[in-house]
Amino acid sequence: MPPRRLLLLLLAVLCPPVPGRGEQRAAPGKIAVIGGGIGGTAAAYFLRQKFGRSVRIEVLERGEVGGRLATVEMEGASYEAGGSVLHPLNLHMKHFAKELGLPAIPVPGKLMGIYNGEEIVFEESSWYIINILKLLWHYGFSPLRMNMWVEDILDKFMRIYRYQTHDYTFSSYEQLFHALGGNDFTQILNQTIDEAMQKASFSQKFINEMVCPAMRVDYGQGVNINGFVGAVSLAGAGSSLWSVKGGNKLVCTGLIYASKADVITGTVVSIEPKTRKTSTGDPVNLYHITYDTPSGQTGDIYDIVVIAAPLNRKIANITFKNFSPPVPEFSSPYQQTVATFVHGRLNSSFFGYQDPSAFHLGAIFTTENPKLFINSVGIVSPVENRGSEEEPPLQSAVWKIFSKEELTKEQLNLLFSSYDSVKVKKWLAYPHYSPPNKFPPIILHDNIYYLNGIEWAASAMEMSSIAAKNAALLAYHRWYGNTDKIDQEDLYEKLKTEL
Ligand SMILES: Cc1cc2nc3c(=O)[nH]c(=O)nc-3n(C[C@H](O)[C@H](O)[C@H](O)COP(=O)(O)OP(=O)(O)OC[C@H]3O[C@@H](n4cnc5c(N)ncnc54)[C@H](O)[C@@H]3O)c2cc1C
Ligand SMILES: *[C@@H]1O[C@H](CO)[C@@H](O)[C@H](O)[C@H]1NC(C)=O
Ligand SMILES: *[C@@H]1O[C@H](CO)[C@@H](O)[C@H](O)[C@H]1NC(C)=O
Ligand SMILES: *[C@@H]1O[C@H](CO)[C@@H](O)[C@H](O)[C@H]1NC(C)=O
Repeated sequence: MPPRRLLLLLLAVLCPPVPGRGEQRAAPGKIAVIGGGIGGTAAAYFLRQKFGRSVRIEVLERGEVGGRLATVEMEGASYEAGGSVLHPLNLHMKHFAKELGLPAIPVPGKLMGIYNGEEIVFEESSWYIINILKLLWHYGFSPLRMNMWVEDILDKFMRIYRYQTHDYTFSSYEQLFHALGGNDFTQILNQTIDEAMQKASFSQKFINEMVCPAMRVDYGQGVNINGFVGAVSLAGAGSSLWSVKGGNKLVCTGLIYASKADVITGTVVSIEPKTRKTSTGDPVNLYHITYDTPSGQTGDIYDIVVIAAPLNRKIANITFKNFSPPVPEFSSPYQQTVATFVHGRLNSSFFGYQDPSAFHLGAIFTTENPKLFINSVGIVSPVENRGSEEEPPLQSAVWKIFSKEELTKEQLNLLFSSYDSVKVKKWLAYPHYSPPNKFPPIILHDNIYYLNGIEWAASAMEMSSIAAKNAALLAYHRWYGNTDKIDQEDLYEKLKTEL
């Protein structure tokens, strides 16, 4: 072979086709997104951004758009019942709110106390300097050191935005986390937050009294959850937290609108692969999705499928028919958390106060104690006027209680000295963490992508948004064969020199 031809051949093998050239593959005709929560609606948005105007995007949702972002109505006002609080560094969520013209409102701080089942072991003061002295007295420099420890993890995690801005994507969550901080970072997913913080020489007293309560309010578990989700939870205990005026679920409906996706009301029951021959005779994979609608069972054919709901028989009960090799079964359990809203007066003597007028707390977190039937209780404000100056008087506030089980009448009568209305929302809320957890795959088949495996690192609105962008980029780059954008090693160093 003449050297020139050999060179060209080599180039052709080494360089993937450049989009825009003549040989480019045709765009997909139709994409299905299963699930209209923040993950699915963000996926629709990013898929539209990547694939352009011509592709049809359908979001299949069995209930309401928003999923685990939902509000409950109580006495004419709405309150966040699921995902409620965002961190200032949740950049995708921040971008969505801005792009959609949804105002972000600050989450007001509440005086916090920690209850161990017998007494309040720590009580915040409204005087900043007194809090600092109290913390120093109880825990030495641990709180300060904890902030630095969490910040270090957050700094590495933030690299994902730079990778995604440069169009890079990962075919598994192991590779995504490895690209953020190497083995140190994947290691923290394999340890409990207890182990990770002990290794960093935090005292057990500090871990039990300060760290554990934050895990219990955010994830309904103690310090046996993995180090990463633990750090996410600790970051969420910081200041400058925000949420979306009118309810976080408005981001989901806004993203549907912005993505020009069609929402189809239906419960997906199965997916089956089909092959069709193109005009050139090459086989292409397609997927037949069967779903139940109020008017009976129906179905349709799609080129690409993005699953944005937890695959678990108790949640998204989807059967993968006739796949070879078969799509594995994901049976890891989700944690039940019950959110109970009560308009009433908290019984301060339940928390060990002799004098009710000495009680000023707006949030009570708890340590691990099997006797306790609640994880947390705190005052909430309606989604419409959160962040407003005037706080409701403690006497007649709306309290949100998180617990594992539904509260009995007797338990409510213990917690409240009087109350008028109660609303209950039961969730299979987030994974039940028991590290080391293996991530479910992202790629379930040629053109089927699964988002919610990322929840096994941490379940949060921003995590689903990151997973959505990753999947949209992955679907796009794999469709057009841009392998140089997938699973790049040393990306951090590469991008450093690029800028
Ligand atoms: C009580 C609670 C408090 C939380 N607090 C916070 C917080 O403060 N901050 C934070 O960032 N995160 C928080 N989270 C976590 C956050 O809400 C979730 O991580 C996030 O909303 C998950 O979004 P998702 O789109 O991935 O999943 P989901 O919101 O669960 O969306 C999946 C959607 O798929 C639909 N679906 C399921 N099966 C099918 C099917 N077979 N066919 C069709 N549709 C189907 C469901 O109806 C649902 O709408 C909290 C969660 C809970 C429950
Ligand atoms: C973490 O645990 C998983 C699953 O047990 C394992 O495959 C992986 O190698 C572990 N990673 C590290 C860095 O120890
Ligand atoms: C899941 O769906 C299958 C059939 O589609 C059904 O037989 C099974 O009972 C369902 N499982 C649960 C837990 O709902
Ligand atoms: C309040 O809590 C105390 C202590 O647990 C309990 O004895 C009492 O019955 C509760 N209820 C009221 C209405 O005080």
